[in-house]
Amino acid sequence: MALSGAFWKGKKVLITGHTGFKGSWLTLWLHHLGAEITGYALEPQGEPNVFTEAGVEGICRSVIGDVRNRGHLLETMLAAEPDIVIHMAAQPLVQYSYEHPVETFEVNVMGTVNVLDAVRQTAALNGKLQAFLNVTTDKCYENREWVWGYRESDRLGGYDPYSNSKACSEMVTAAYRSSYFNPDTHPAPLPVVATARAGNVIGGGDWSENRIIPDCIRALSGGGPLMVRNPAAIRPWQHVLEPLSGYLQLIEAMVTHGNTYAGAWNFGPDEDSERNVEWLVRGVGRLWGQDDFYQIQSGSAPHEALNLKLDSAKAKRNLHWSPRWDIHTALQYTVAWYQAHQQHESMRQICVDQIESYMASI
Ligand SMILES: NC(=O)c1ccc[n+]([C@@H]2O[C@H](COP(=O)([O-])OP(=O)(O)OC[C@H]3O[C@@H](n4cnc5c(N)ncnc54)[C@H](O)[C@@H]3O)[C@@H](O)[C@H]2O)c1
Repeated sequence: MALSGAFWKGKKVLITGHTGFKGSWLTLWLHHLGAEITGYALEPQGEPNVFTEAGVEGICRSVIGDVRNRGHLLETMLAAEPDIVIHMAAQPLVQYSYEHPVETFEVNVMGTVNVLDAVRQTAALNGKLQAFLNVTTDKCYENREWVWGYRESDRLGGYDPYSNSKACSEMVTAAYRSSYFNPDTHPAPLPVVATARAGNVIGGGDWSENRIIPDCIRALSGGGPLMVRNPAAIRPWQHVLEPLSGYLQLIEAMVTHGNTYAGAWNFGPDEDSERNVEWLVRGVGRLWGQDDFYQIQSGSAPHEALNLKLDSAKAKRNLHWSPRWDIHTALQYTVAWYQAHQQHESMRQICVDQIESYMASI
């Protein structure tokens, strides 16, 4: 199933979380494909941020709002009359979730309830909403420190508040799918409902706290030595465009072929892109041209899973999706983005160039 510009041209898409890292890249990509986008999210966090640097506000109808505000969210969705809703708004950081568990559960669980309920009401009123995708994470699985990848049928869980809140968000989506979007019990037309689980994404424009690439860039830009916690932790690193291409291919299949594409989907990197944190840090330093910018942090860090791999066989077989950029290519594009930013280049153009390079590899 290829990614088709013809499919997206003129489609009305509502994205929650469009001011964030993944949401900004998705908005840029969908705009490039000719979609009409309404975004719903909080103001972009901190300076700099990719939303502002790449001028994303200028290519969508940007609504600043909180997913905990059910009325405002519903009003926005009704006005947008979307064909497709993609839910990405979340409190996405593990460390922050340890310090702010209540906020994390409120945003990630009740936020998902509010988005799904707005989808339910919007679909009932205008009958044109065709697909809803909830973006969760590889961390939604009960982590057993297995050496092999998690499949969509494996048990959900989550040790820390963030991971657990995303498992809850999966459960909420499943309940809405069976209760309100079930073609066996409800008359058509109904939106097809799916969830997408991807690994740790890297790419230009992420400046979040306590994420390894932004931490590297801050250190390399003169912010002092980087303290690396959990250097041995293995993560399924992938460029941000990899899972986004999976979301787009999945939605196209959901709209075109219906409920056979409902359910959960993994979009992880190939096995040879699974490296430990210290390998990634060294790789960034090598591309930047400086290798003495980090130290291994001793002592006890809050618990994080050591082994976390995804099995993407379902997406490969049923969607013909597969990762296109290996870890080396992903790192090159990532570091090139931050270097272009340091040189004050047009970041909108750099994003579009990278999107076009990625599309050429599909
Ligand atoms: N970045 C990763 O490595 C990664 C990996 C797996 C899954 N994810 C998931 O992808 C999604 C996007 O993550 P990201 O990396 O772009 O994070 P981000 O922090 O850059 O963006 C989060 C977005 O959610 C919005 N948001 C947060 N709280 C909100 C609220 N109360 N109301 C409305 N909007 C709110 C923010 O304004 C922002 O637009 C999240 O659901 C995250 O869990 C991210």
